[in-house]
Amino acid sequence: MIIWLLPSVYTLGWAQTINTAREIAYCADQAQKTLNQIPPGDYNIPRGIDHDKNVWRYVDYHDWCSGFWPGILWDLYAVTHNDKWKIQADRFTRELTPLSSQSGFDHDLGFMVLNSFGQGYQLTKSTAYKQVILRSADSLATLFNPRVGTILSWPQMVKKMGWPHNTIIDNMINLELLFWASKNGGSHELYDIAVRHAETTMRNHFRPDYTSYHVVVYDTVTGKKIKGITHQGYADSSMWARGQSWAIYGFTMCYRETRKAEFLNFAQKVADVYLQRLPADRIPYWDFNDPAIPNAPRDASAAAVTASALLQLSGFVSDKAKADYYYKQAVAMLTTLSSAAYQSRSTNSAFLLHSTGHHPAGSEIDASIIYADYYYLEALMRLQKINRKNLPASR
Ligand code: GLY
Repeated sequence: MIIWLLPSVYTLGWAQTINTAREIAYCADQAQKTLNQIPPGDYNIPRGIDHDKNVWRYVDYHDWCSGFWPGILWDLYAVTHNDKWKIQADRFTRELTPLSSQSGFDHDLGFMVLNSFGQGYQLTKSTAYKQVILRSADSLATLFNPRVGTILSWPQMVKKMGWPHNTIIDNMINLELLFWASKNGGSHELYDIAVRHAETTMRNHFRPDYTSYHVVVYDTVTGKKIKGITHQGYADSSMWARGQSWAIYGFTMCYRETRKAEFLNFAQKVADVYLQRLPADRIPYWDFNDPAIPNAPRDASAAAVTASALLQLSGFVSDKAKADYYYKQAVAMLTTLSSAAYQSRSTNSAFLLHSTGHHPAGSEIDASIIYADYYYLEALMRLQKINRKNLPASR
């Protein structure tokens, strides 16, 4: 019985280990430093800082990471109500407008458009933003193959890798764009596509221990799974850290959008295996099965994605002890991420160090990466909201 009465006390106790207002203010200071450095011209969206450098590598709207920087700026506006962030958020969001007039080229449209225009719409109700989001959702839906039951994540890999229909676990996050559109004037079919994609992924993308494949290749004629493999992980049979994080975040979001119990149960299964295998400081190595561990690089981005997802999951789980467990795990992750070992501070103007982008390709290893910063700030804001209201995070 005691355990049922304690969670709110524990919750407050753990909340005191991290000062969300201070860490969010740190993020704002770092973002201002980045704004001061951004060069003129169109190639000006921060993506990453390699570990041997201290300046950003910039991209334009074509890059899958183009939505995270405007998303950070919208979050800073949401939390500070200072118009300087709104002006900058709108500036960088509008740079992504051409995405809405391109045919479905990649599943990453969700990351790009929802973090920029979606966040902006939530705060401004701009009809121009809404049109971009709705058009992009329709464009993403053109990649859905009803025979398979999933979205074709990487059209360019069909020829390049000989993967006739491929779906990657990251694609789970982009279903949020379809859910959003179906609730905001788009077709109900977008909702059905998102649900079917999640259900098919739940069946085919996981091993019996609930660890995820990065890529599943399907036969376009029979619709059947051909194989589960990796692209960014250590091996076909390994647990690539960020892939598992996308699964935790994605199935939690699918439960939030559908209230289907199977998604909530599944989110817990994929979270539990990840949490059981983490090192003591709660930051994963880039792949849980890299034989170089403990000398392998970490992935702070996976920790940030997971922390944000677990804060939301903790609000959905009815078993109080389990909900408290997820909450505490998230706070422990954010505590490590907020330490001198992980915050960039004077090293560079990102928020965090030590993320791994694409280890097999040798790119962005032990680097600062914009999506780590995005999910770190999102997680801090969710934690602040929970601590203030002692209520579940709703976004
Ligand atoms: N969505 C690509 C990645 O997680 O690296």
